Amino acid sequence: MSTKTFAETTYQLPDGDLVRIRPAQEADLPGMEWDGEFAHFRRLYKQHYQNSRSGNTLIWVAENEDGEIIGQVFLSLLSSQSELADGIHRAYLFSFRLKPDYRNHGLGSHILGFVENYLLQRGFDTLRINVARDNQLARRMYEKHGYRVVGPEEGRWRYQDQFGQWQSVHEPAWRMMKKLK
Ligand SMILES: CC(C)(COP(=O)(O)OP(=O)(O)OC[C@H]1O[C@@H](n2cnc3c(N)ncnc32)[C@H](O)[C@@H]1OP(=O)(O)O)[C@@H](O)C(=O)NCCC(=O)NCCS
Repeated sequence: MSTKTFAETTYQLPDGDLVRIRPAQEADLPGMEWDGEFAHFRRLYKQHYQNSRSGNTLIWVAENEDGEIIGQVFLSLLSSQSELADGIHRAYLFSFRLKPDYRNHGLGSHILGFVENYLLQRGFDTLRINVARDNQLARRMYEKHGYRVVGPEEGRWRYQDQFGQWQSVHEPAWRMMKKLK
């Protein structure tokens, strides 16, 4: 198992509560299912968690003061799709979400800025994100942070749900990109 650690940060919500953004641990996996809403991604998350041990994918979770997992972001540094993440210049951010009560309080922007700084420190210069075409709110947030649409993404992919059944997804998206430096 890798003993490599990576940075973490905290964020104070407008009501004063603190949220800690830290590297995910194996024990966080059930909490990332959000009381069953994302149970269908159980195998996928486990796979990503296993990949995170090699350092090619990084996972941060956002944890409130009660120890509840209220958000997550995944970052691919090196992928078999080198146009997304090539291990040196380009990285790819995905599976970014916060529980509804924690949205629109600046936490997402804080996490995005934190990830960008982390990448800059590691010498990366480009961050890619896919955003579903019907997700205007998220697209607007990314645009405010300097991301630009660079093309369409078909958004077809497959995963095995918690019962081992293959599920197909078709979620047309926009490819967005930001030059970090
Ligand atoms: C997208 C997301 C991570 C942004 O984090 P956040 O903490 O809500 O964002 P911030 O408070 O820092 O920034 C506010 C901006 O986020 C967007 N936003 C606000 N409320 C939102 C909501 N309920 N859902 C989605 N986006 C929202 C808006 O663009 C807003 O911009 P505005 O200030 O001009 O209205 C979060 O809203 C979320 O988890 N949404 C649902 C999942 C999702 O869409 N993930 C992105 C996949 S690419």
